Amino acid sequence: MSNRFAVILAAGQGTRMKSKLYKVLHPVCGKPMIQHVVDQVSGVGLEKIVTIIGHGADAVKDQLGNQVTYALQNEQLGTGHAVMQAEAELAEEKGVTIVVCGDTPLITSETMEALMEHHEHTQAKVTILTANASDPTGYGRIVRNAEGAVERIVEHKDATEHEREISEINTGTYCFDNASLFAALKQVGNDNVQGEYYLPDVIEILQRQGEVVSAYQTDTFSETLGVNDRVALSQAEQVMKQRINERLMRAGVTIVDPDHTYVSSDAQIGQDTVLLPGTVIQGETVIGDDCTIGPHTEIIDSTVGDRTKLKQSVIHQSQIGNDVNVGPFAHIRPSSEIHDEVKIGNFVEVKKSVFGNRSKASHLSYIGDANVGEDVNLGCGSITVNYDGENKHLTTIEDGAFIGCNTNLVAPVTVGKQAYVAAGSTITNDVPGQALSIARARQTNKEGYVTKKNDK
Ligand code: UD1
Ligand code: MG
Repeated sequence: MSNRFAVILAAGQGTRMKSKLYKVLHPVCGKPMIQHVVDQVSGVGLEKIVTIIGHGADAVKDQLGNQVTYALQNEQLGTGHAVMQAEAELAEEKGVTIVVCGDTPLITSETMEALMEHHEHTQAKVTILTANASDPTGYGRIVRNAEGAVERIVEHKDATEHEREISEINTGTYCFDNASLFAALKQVGNDNVQGEYYLPDVIEILQRQGEVVSAYQTDTFSETLGVNDRVALSQAEQVMKQRINERLMRAGVTIVDPDHTYVSSDAQIGQDTVLLPGTVIQGETVIGDDCTIGPHTEIIDSTVGDRTKLKQSVIHQSQIGNDVNVGPFAHIRPSSEIHDEVKIGNFVEVKKSVFGNRSKASHLSYIGDANVGEDVNLGCGSITVNYDGENKHLTTIEDGAFIGCNTNLVAPVTVGKQAYVAAGSTITNDVPGQALSIARARQTNKEGYVTKKNDK
């Protein structure tokens, strides 16, 4: 096996997307297209990955960090010109370079690996990854000679009517002998409809020089989908969603309605967990075994233990333990830690708070910046008054405390172990452990009030 390198093209603006967001940063199943490509390319095992950046260079760098090396393409003069920008990084290297477009988010490591193996096996100077498209519109077409050998690639815009009938397309992924690539690129001109330096022109140049030009056809066209507009973006989303859901189902996750279940490619879900319709699981979420998620639940960058039920709720950047019940209609906001056997019921909002084992907030509460111990019962309408208009303050509720309905806990404040707070209280001072605190106006009954009023 020779040394292997990669160039990822990501400098274009993506005019056809009609977007303020640079094309390769558009997410597919919650992850930017370019990140999908880099993750798959990284799976191949390469010496160096050079990403060509231009439009949105800083944003692309922010996304990819130090996972790749960068080369800047100041002016977007075409895909051939883009690859040229990697010359300083790669021209001296001996080996094979794989070139991938940043707008083909569905390409897999396996296919790139197969392409490279085919390339090395046939000892070609270039191998093009091709596919048969039912609708090849917009793609470069593979022109073969009478013997079936690849002669050149013609771009859709430059193609004749006859050439446009070719259904075998250039997927935009190629393997090149590195030295041949950079030598041939110098000969690429821009005499075409778009006035651009096309990378595919390298194929014709090498072919004319009598070099071995090879093609490797994949039978999964969907994997090679190039996203140039929002229609293709939604197609990519569909394919990626299906791929992720099938992988999960084969690994033992029940997905009741895969068409309406959206899981990010980086999420992990345990065996016998059931995903009900309308569930959206984003980012690097990890869910354990035997959970029931949904219907209509959104979980973002969170961890969930085993046997937990999350119903019609939103969980964001939080940790949920085992045997927890959340919802329906609860909102767990970032930095919350919900321990085992906790119940967070309907219309409860939790923010940056810890709930100890077996504690409950079953109905209509706001618990923010709070440390709730174990076996605490928060009655309906318990509110932590955590914000004074300038600063946030902490509420501590110790183990076994019982907070009556409709209580305001004005922070900073502590309710001690096993203490009781009477319903309707507004607690402004600490409550000692095991005490009963009543902080509400005493009730006065005006006997006969109505009769007296009516007599007037
Ligand atoms: C390209 C191929 C086409 C192929 C298709 C597969 C060329 C000329 N055409 O067409 O044969 O069928 O991909 O999806 O290569 N880019 C740069 N700098 C530039 C221009 C483009 O970095 O100056 C990047 C873009 O950001 C994009 C990629 O190269 O990620 C491909 O460019 P795009 O404009 O999408 O090419 P296609 O028209 O799709
Ligand atoms: Mg494209």
